[in-house]
Amino acid sequence: MNKVEIFENERASGYNTFVETWIPNYSVFLNDLPKLFSKMNPKELLVVGCGTGNEIEQFVHRSERWLITGIDPSPEMVKQAIDRFQGYEHVTLMEGLVTAIDAEKKYSAATLLLVLHFLEDDGNKLNLLSNIAERLVSGATFVMLDITGDKQQIKQNLKILRLLLPDGLDEQQINHRLNRIENELFPISEERLAALCVTAGFEKPIRFFQSSIYMGWLMTKK
Ligand SMILES: C[S@@+](CC[C@H](N)C(=O)[O-])C[C@H]1O[C@@H](n2cnc3c(N)ncnc32)[C@H](O)[C@@H]1O
Repeated sequence: MNKVEIFENERASGYNTFVETWIPNYSVFLNDLPKLFSKMNPKELLVVGCGTGNEIEQFVHRSERWLITGIDPSPEMVKQAIDRFQGYEHVTLMEGLVTAIDAEKKYSAATLLLVLHFLEDDGNKLNLLSNIAERLVSGATFVMLDITGDKQQIKQNLKILRLLLPDGLDEQQINHRLNRIENELFPISEERLAALCVTAGFEKPIRFFQSSIYMGWLMTKK
């Protein structure tokens, strides 16, 4: 069970503009990301579903020189990350699923941003979380950003999302996008997310960030 949501064509080439438009406070979340890891100062950091490398961008310039591995199954997304981080010797980029990394290899921290809500809760979500947990040392920090909430919560927070969107967007486009989030993606409740994380091998996650439907979670590998 390894569902993949492939990003290609305009979805890949226009991705960075897309996230800035549709995820209010995404840049705030990204800017704060390294602070969540700085205390533990991870030697090796695993960035799962790294896409174009937005989260890697936050880590590469740190003086501590964390060794960063980014992995993503969409060739057009990871190609952008490869071009972006050419010449950074402490960044390794791979095209593929996290299972392509030897499970003997252990990381001291990991991220999974904006990926889990594309996977159904039919074993696919748990599988991805377990595959990540398997590749982390005990005590490792894991940070996730995901669309989270039960049906009612998502409905209400989509109304907030609509209010927070930039001015000038096409009304039809807004309706289409919000409708897709409500009916075609696979968010789960906070309780269910916590249960899956615990089953996968993490301590109970802490919600430290929220911007409308998007929630940031921090947890420790057991
Ligand atoms: C919305 S993008 C997020 C990219 C990046 N994390 C960011 O925040 O900008 C989702 C990414 O998840 C990747 N993806 C899809 N299915 C995946 C899976 N099963 N495991 C890991 N990544 C996956 C896609 O290729 C895509 O690049």
